[in-house]
Amino acid sequence: MSYANELREVARTMVSGGRGLLAADESSPTLTKRFDALGLESTADTRLAWREMLFTTPGLSDWISGVILYDETFRQRLSNGATVPEFLSANGMLPGIKVDTGAKPMAGRPAETVTEGLDGLAGRLAEYRSLGGTFAKWRAVIKIEEGALPSRACILANAHALARYARICQAEGIVPIVEPEVLMDGNHSLERSFEVTSTTLNAVFAELWNQEVALDQMVLKPSMVISGKGAAERASRKEVAAASVECYRNTVPAAVAGIALLSGGQNDHEATEHLALMNELGPLPWPVTFSYGRALQDAAMNSWATKRNDVAAAQAALADRASANFSASSVRV
Ligand code: 13P
Repeated sequence: MSYANELREVARTMVSGGRGLLAADESSPTLTKRFDALGLESTADTRLAWREMLFTTPGLSDWISGVILYDETFRQRLSNGATVPEFLSANGMLPGIKVDTGAKPMAGRPAETVTEGLDGLAGRLAEYRSLGGTFAKWRAVIKIEEGALPSRACILANAHALARYARICQAEGIVPIVEPEVLMDGNHSLERSFEVTSTTLNAVFAELWNQEVALDQMVLKPSMVISGKGAAERASRKEVAAASVECYRNTVPAAVAGIALLSGGQNDHEATEHLALMNELGPLPWPVTFSYGRALQDAAMNSWATKRNDVAAAQAALADRASANFSASSVRV
């Protein structure tokens, strides 16, 4: 059976009309780290309470087309008795699932990682689909270090795994989000970020071609072309937007359903402005929207930690960021 029409429609819904994705798929250890930093206790129940607050934000589906979940959340029930995927679907948002099992040190190159999770993937995807899952995410991590990194071995291994994952998703009726993240860590220049992001995207699309992935049935989640966090002179927001758009225009085929950017540790207002500036450079060959984690959740989490359990205040903080990013991806000139 071919899922092509369904997958095309899901991919289009994920990225169109200015809406974007809420990445709420932090693994339990990662969310625990974020909670710890703010003095919040991390248990299955407190993680659910936090996420229930996010997902029940009034009007969320006006700005958010889908939510990326972690396995624990995917199987939890909200206070009204619905599972999280059931609640999201009933409220106009597509349920998605992170399916990689993490970036692990590469054999022989412990400073770099390759993302794992292909073993048994088809079976896991079939189960998620039967529970309401519509799309999936797999994140590859590429590290820049002056002189040495990234290695060609790291880029090629991650590109191959991303393409295998994407092809398996499409065979199982799930839209793949293909996420090659070039990290902002380090003091590299905008030019170096441009070079590494271009090389990485070229490698990823070559492997997607080899594995016969249907580009109109997938969403690309790239990092922006941006100076390293520790760079002495960081490029301006306009330069980041221009370099990112130039890089994607040169490497991302027009057939791709859309680009949904990650925020990668930028502050939330910066991530929104970069998105708006990119869309002002249009018309672009694909919709360019957001799939932010921290840039959507940081303000809400700070509010949640300081005004314990003030649901309305935390929801207002999320609504503020979600609506601002919706406007930034709706900008058309
Ligand atoms: P950030 O926007 O916080 O980078 O998270 C997006 C994401 O899903 C990373 O995999």
